[in-house]
Amino acid sequence: MLEEKFHIPGNRMFYLALAPELFGSVSFNLKAGGMLQGSGWNRLVIEKPFGYNLESAEQLNEQIRQVFKEEEIYRIDHYLGKEMVQNIEVIRFANAFFEPLWNNKHIANIQITLGETVGVEERGGYYDHAGALRDMGQNHILQLLTMIAMEPPSRLLAEDIRDEKVKVLRSLRPYASPEEVRENVVRGQYTQGLYKGKSLPAYRQEDKVDPESNTETYFAARIFVDNFRWAGVPFYIRTGKRLPVKTTEVVVEFKGMPTNVYLGQKHNLEPNLLVIRVNPMEGIYVKINAKKPGSESEIQPLAMDFCQSCMVGINSPEAYERLLHDAARGDSTYFTRWDEVSSAWSFVDRVAKAWKEESSDLASYPAGSWGPVEADQLLAQEGFHWWPVNGQEEDNVVWRVNG
Ligand code: BG6
Repeated sequence: MLEEKFHIPGNRMFYLALAPELFGSVSFNLKAGGMLQGSGWNRLVIEKPFGYNLESAEQLNEQIRQVFKEEEIYRIDHYLGKEMVQNIEVIRFANAFFEPLWNNKHIANIQITLGETVGVEERGGYYDHAGALRDMGQNHILQLLTMIAMEPPSRLLAEDIRDEKVKVLRSLRPYASPEEVRENVVRGQYTQGLYKGKSLPAYRQEDKVDPESNTETYFAARIFVDNFRWAGVPFYIRTGKRLPVKTTEVVVEFKGMPTNVYLGQKHNLEPNLLVIRVNPMEGIYVKINAKKPGSESEIQPLAMDFCQSCMVGINSPEAYERLLHDAARGDSTYFTRWDEVSSAWSFVDRVAKAWKEESSDLASYPAGSWGPVEADQLLAQEGFHWWPVNGQEEDNVVWRVNG
């Protein structure tokens, strides 16, 4: 064997992308088959979904833990491998003009959008069972939210960072009743629609989807993180299939200046925005107000738009390359620890349970649109609106400084 020939200890890394019910028996058989006996390390990298709800995730975890220790398990959430998600920490903690404002005194709301133009493609069988909440909400969106909301870790070590992330998940205000779920969460399913002049089928007409399916292909929610930093700040999250734009963006909307004094008296000032563009465009967009040159007192929004992915020669590794490399090096920072997974399921389960009990609240939206209008009302109730993604429709922003 090569290991004997080169005198290497026989480190083993196993990567499982399987139906979750098989993770346990595969782990067991890896051990039974003598695959874990070398004197080197053993690591198990597992794809999502990690269970279907808290109960099934617990069972799965127990089975795997009979073979692997927690520190040997690397649960993949590929969003954590994305360049700009990892950049959130740097943007927050390396810039004097963001971190001091990063709290409920200065931030009005935070919006997280994970939009996809694709439908369910050939994954109808899996997706119809999972839906948007489990497919994107329990993992990618909540993980992004933890990166935005967490406290600075005491050290830049995997366990310290994950300790801070899990505290955010534990601080999510649980919806106390099905009524609260209805007030704060909107779910929708796409119907037939148009995208770039092309007719798209309804979700219920997709391959391997139940023609009477009530599975959501979209959801939006208003979430509160009940801790000192974030008390009272709504986090609006949304994701959907067959939306008009493929995008992942975080918009931080700052509170406005006083309206009764100085410029605020005469002008309708736009709020300052910090937009972190994650995917597929990578970059940072900052919107500020400035005087229109040459005018006496006209104020216009100014966008500083840095497109990192537009830069020629950039060599940002793909999320999976980065994560598999991290696992091989034994760095679990950007993998989800069991307490994160279980806290996320506890939050999501309440929503799923309320939906199960009341199937009537499924809204619809034409494929190629921005989702059900009910999702706009979630924000409108508090005087906010979804900011356009990728700077689209921001026609009033007249000057752009592009990277
Ligand atoms: C996966 C979901 O985890 O993420 C898919 O199962 C989704 O439904 C995909 O399409 C989106 O990933 P990305 O990196 O293309 O935004």
